Amino acid sequence: MTIDPASQSIPALFNILTTAVAPRPICFASTVDAAGRVNLSPFSFFNVFGANPITFAFSASRRVRDGSTKHTLENILEVPEVVINIIDFPLVEQLSLASTEYAKGVNEFVKAGFTEVGSDLVRPPRVGEAPIAFECHVDQILDLGTGPGSGNLVIARAVRIHLADGVLTDGKLDAAKLDLVARMGGNEYLRASAEAKFTIPKPIHSLGIGIDQLPEAVRNSAVLTGNNLGRLGNLERLPTAEEIAATAERPEVQAAAQEGELALHLLAQKALLAGATEEALRVLLVGGR
Ligand SMILES: Cc1cc2nc3c(=O)[nH]c(=O)nc-3n(C[C@H](O)[C@H](O)[C@H](O)COP(=O)(O)O)c2cc1C
Repeated sequence: MTIDPASQSIPALFNILTTAVAPRPICFASTVDAAGRVNLSPFSFFNVFGANPITFAFSASRRVRDGSTKHTLENILEVPEVVINIIDFPLVEQLSLASTEYAKGVNEFVKAGFTEVGSDLVRPPRVGEAPIAFECHVDQILDLGTGPGSGNLVIARAVRIHLADGVLTDGKLDAAKLDLVARMGGNEYLRASAEAKFTIPKPIHSLGIGIDQLPEAVRNSAVLTGNNLGRLGNLERLPTAEEIAATAERPEVQAAAQEGELALHLLAQKALLAGATEEALRVLLVGGR
């Protein structure tokens, strides 16, 4: 299916975009208007874009309903400061409640039961319960359109970082102690729990050989997946002829080689699943370079 976006309704486009660009981190933004009235709202069109200076951006879109602007944007236009609070799983239902379209001037800290803690360098308060909070100055607002659903990109520079003691190990932020959540399409969320996380080894000091360096029979294997090939291509060198010859001597490798290519590939895949990537490549190369 190929789509011309111009033929789609805004809700249909939102459905595609929020389902495709997911999971998205969530910025829980606290702002104040010129009179000091506090607002707190979540935004998942959000990310970090630089460390020097620390640069965040999030988009407070115009409402799909009528193209009107959100209180967060109006506040930032009056007071160009924001606290970007990062919320974890135990607080996500309260965060969702804070996204309710309350009337202008209604304080979502109160409605959603969060504690206002005075910031050090900016006027908006931070969320006391948040494990992480960034006090930011807003440098730029990019108006991305005037129709319903158009974005307003708020570009913010962090000037203060608050980290809760409970998410630190030896003074460093510890991912294992954070129970982060992300937004998917519709009303779906994702919890970055231990089972959901995995790691991919990456050569830091040298370059991976690349999938193009693997023999054709390996690249076109009926057994090995794209992930398997990616892991193999990440190795920093091909094994030597001696290493391959030594592997070929082993009884289980000999047995697989006698059975044929499929058996060798299955044996290599087993090694890959066990994390023995170099061993897997040696087994595969017993089948020929
Ligand atoms: C998890 C979550 C993520 C959201 N992300 C966005 C977003 O990226 N942009 C946006 O305009 N609205 C987003 N919303 C909706 C706003 O939070 C909602 O419109 C809110 O009422 C705006 O409040 P305000 O008018 O007080 O600024 C999101 C809501 C939730 C629950």
